Amino acid sequence: MASTSRMQAEAAHQNQVICGFRLQAEEFETSMPSDVVAIYPGSFDPLTNGHVDIIQRGSRLFDRIIVGVLLNLEKSPLFTVPERVAIARDVFKPWHNVEVDTFDGLLVDFAHKKHATVIVRGLRAVSDFEFELQMALMNRRLRPEVETVFMMPAEPYTYVSSRLVKEVVALGGSVHGLVPDVVEGRLREKKLARETLRA
Ligand SMILES: Nc1ncnc2c1ncn2[C@@H]1O[C@H](COP(=O)(O)OP(=O)(O)OP(=O)(O)O)[C@@H](O)[C@H]1O
Ligand SMILES: [Mg+2]
Repeated sequence: MASTSRMQAEAAHQNQVICGFRLQAEEFETSMPSDVVAIYPGSFDPLTNGHVDIIQRGSRLFDRIIVGVLLNLEKSPLFTVPERVAIARDVFKPWHNVEVDTFDGLLVDFAHKKHATVIVRGLRAVSDFEFELQMALMNRRLRPEVETVFMMPAEPYTYVSSRLVKEVVALGGSVHGLVPDVVEGRLREKKLARETLRA
């Protein structure tokens, strides 16, 4: 008798645990956002094919990816923020799940505002790693619900940076194939405008 009631009690307890778990799972499911939104932050001065490669990978992994152009990062950028936004919007126009926006302040606050749970960052070489690790861990401390995801670009873009692209163009070299065509054209215009000013 005693063992039967103990078995019943155990069964009831098990049921409670299972029901409790089911309830938690249901709550979890309903609290999960239906779309996974990712933010890809940067200065994009200018957008390179390395950036485009990472955004393309992100657009396959996430429901939406928001390219976040950081405001006021550099004192003397080559392209203004509206120019950088316009270029990115033009390049990603055919991609239905890529958006372009600007942000200021903490990246995790921008992510929160946009209902994004992922921050995408690109890793080119070991030299990127230390700074990226620090940023990812600080962002996790600030908002643990936002996860940083690192992605590697295709090999031809592992050495491409906006800074290097600007330097090469300023010194008269070609960056064909390393930046979108629209960026190549805009870089040429900027160079011409600067040369005309100096003349
Ligand atoms: N060629 C690339 N391949 C992969 N990730 C990249 C590449 N270029 C930039 N990224 C990543 O894109 C994000 C935004 O970078 P950012 O706007 O600083 O570009 P950048 O090329 O590093 O520019 P800058 O030379 O001005 O620092 C960062 O996570 C950076 O590591
Ligand atoms: Mg950089």
